[in-house]
Amino acid sequence: MEEWVIFVTGVASVGKTLFSMKLAEKLGIRFIDLPEVIMEMKLYEYYDEVAREYVVDFRKVSGKLGSLLKKDKTIIASVYLFKPRNITVRLVIVLRVRPDILMLRLRERGYPEWKIAENLLAEIVDKPLHDALKTFGKRKVIQIDVTDKNIDELVENVYSAYLSSNLRNLDVRVDWIGELEKVERGHDVLQFLARYTKFISKQI
Ligand SMILES: Nc1ncnc2c1ncn2[C@@H]1O[C@H](COP(=O)(O)OP(=O)(O)OP(=O)(O)O)[C@@H](O)[C@H]1O
Ligand SMILES: [Mg+2]
Repeated sequence: MEEWVIFVTGVASVGKTLFSMKLAEKLGIRFIDLPEVIMEMKLYEYYDEVAREYVVDFRKVSGKLGSLLKKDKTIIASVYLFKPRNITVRLVIVLRVRPDILMLRLRERGYPEWKIAENLLAEIVDKPLHDALKTFGKRKVIQIDVTDKNIDELVENVYSAYLSSNLRNLDVRVDWIGELEKVERGHDVLQFLARYTKFISKQI
């Protein structure tokens, strides 16, 4: 049986879990939410009290995932990217959400201000794209802008592209500073980040 992986990545709250779950269901293949597996199998080193998150042990992840990924195609939703042992990574889909919308979503989910700032900055400077390119190279990476997209329509589009072997054609370029200016939200986002940076410099 053919074995491969599609990674779905992006910053916190872009919709990795929801999108991957629905796409895997549509394709009739396995879905793995990496944060869940990491917790269940205790694939972390320790809990970082300051960052309020688990520090992941990637040697353990890579080893364990090797066996979990066998005998089927899999979609993995994850912020972290890694090369699973002996399994082909077919594609990395980087989900992108316009930073003003992302800011609202992170607030709604009760993230502390510093974590909102961290994720907004990562989104604005294309960090998930950079990480994906660094690990897998540009032939394997595409970006999809999911801002204001209906999730079921999006899954349908990706499914059709998959069937016609056209996934690469879904790739878009992202210019958030330009987009934010167009919708006149650049000021709000940059003001939030400036306020936050001032707060940090006072603490130092
Ligand atoms: N396309 C979308 N349109 C509107 N809301 C969405 C969309 N996709 C996801 N959401 C909502 O955004 C929130 C985050 O979604 P989800 O948990 O799938 O993101 P995630 O990237 O997996 O987040 P995390 O990094 O915390 O794992 C959820 O409340 C979800 O319902
Ligand atoms: Mg998730």
